[in-house]
Amino acid sequence: MPQNNSFFTALLKTKAKNRNMQLRAIILFLCIAVLIVFSGFSSGESQLSKLMVEMKSDMLRIKENVKAGKPVGKYNKKKYAKIYTAKVSSESKKGKHFEEHATAFLVQCERTSQASGDQVKIEYNNLVTACIRCHEAYCPGPLSMLKKMKVN
Ligand code: HEC
Repeated sequence: MPQNNSFFTALLKTKAKNRNMQLRAIILFLCIAVLIVFSGFSSGESQLSKLMVEMKSDMLRIKENVKAGKPVGKYNKKKYAKIYTAKVSSESKKGKHFEEHATAFLVQCERTSQASGDQVKIEYNNLVTACIRCHEAYCPGPLSMLKKMKVN
């Protein structure tokens, strides 16, 4: 018989106990592969969506500070900067003015985090406006929710 090194021939040649172990290893491997594929593709959420959902919950927390007249303070700059590179669910949602809106938004994040006193509420509301401007251009879905984020 010619030397055949294929994986399955090797598998058949092994003793029953070893084979059992190998089958288990293969099944385990397949389960892990399926899990990885599912977590990557079927979640349906783009990187940008995930970032947005996090920003939304940050904003709702910040809003409480603003209402209480407290400064906003620090935010996760590194995370927010990913707005430029995070993958979007459809390229049409990242038109040619996307970067300008993103930059305006990040500049306003900085202003809001540094504001104090009466300025906090003003800068915070400007930040919500920065969210709204980009959404008017590229993703109108959350607009009514965004409008409610303003503090009177
Ligand atoms: C530079 C443009 C831009 C800015 C600024 C922006 N967004 Fe978005 N947002 C988008 C785009 C584009 C999507 C759609 C993402 C996708 O489909 O991959 C989105 C999606 C969302 C979603 C829906 C996420 C989901 O999948 O459920 C929420 C909520 C959201 N943004 C909130 C905000 C909030 C709050 C702010 C301000 C703090 C903000 N956005 C600022 C462009 C922007």
